[in-house]
Amino acid sequence: MSFKLIDTSPVRHKISILRSAATTTKVFRELAGELAQILCYEALRDAPLKLYEVTSPICATTGYALDENDYVFLPILRAGLGLVDGLLKFMPNARLGHIGLYRDEATLKPVKYYYKVPSEIENKHVFILDPMLATAGSALAAIEILREQGVKQISMICLFAAPEGVKKLEEQYPDVTVYAASLDERLNENGYIVPGCGDAGDRLWGTK
Ligand code: PRP
Ligand code: URA
Repeated sequence: MSFKLIDTSPVRHKISILRSAATTTKVFRELAGELAQILCYEALRDAPLKLYEVTSPICATTGYALDENDYVFLPILRAGLGLVDGLLKFMPNARLGHIGLYRDEATLKPVKYYYKVPSEIENKHVFILDPMLATAGSALAAIEILREQGVKQISMICLFAAPEGVKKLEEQYPDVTVYAASLDERLNENGYIVPGCGDAGDRLWGTK
């Protein structure tokens, strides 16, 4: 796995506000979407482009277009949904799948409860969306399911990553690229990222 840390100054600024326990649900949602968009720009830095002719007020020239049909965004429910709006502002026609996974709080193992993806997903570049890469159990489960379906090109966009999860993904899926806004210190005894931002699902959807 190739791990790309996008920790530019604007990203650090926004990540620090996300960390704060004092940040409201409204601001947390807005920043999560903005960060997802920034990471997606980086992830598509060298994406293939279609050429077309565009006419400026001065003359005709070559224009370049991303083909939105090449991509599928796959948020891991629930917290991954918090990254979707930001991405759709940038790629409004992108297709979306949904995968429902939750971590069993005792075992920390992911439990699948929902899966629905666009047709011909095997030919698309799939971006798994989840703000948290902690033990990597959820990400590994999602990748495994996509591989079983024949998906070759898989990337992941996350906001906070733990070294333990990054290592596991690197060992098991060297061909999956992860784009993260922050590489944090470690996991605590409950599998939470330290310092992290707490429970991302609860903070996004106001369930606690
Ligand atoms: C969180 C998070 C990830 C997972 C990360 O989801 O959104 O999906 O934990 O942890 P892992 O890397 O150890 O698997 P959670 O299970 O809390 O479900 P939720 O999104 O419904 O709150
Ligand atoms: N899931 C979260 O929401 N937060 C963490 O720190 C780890 C897993």
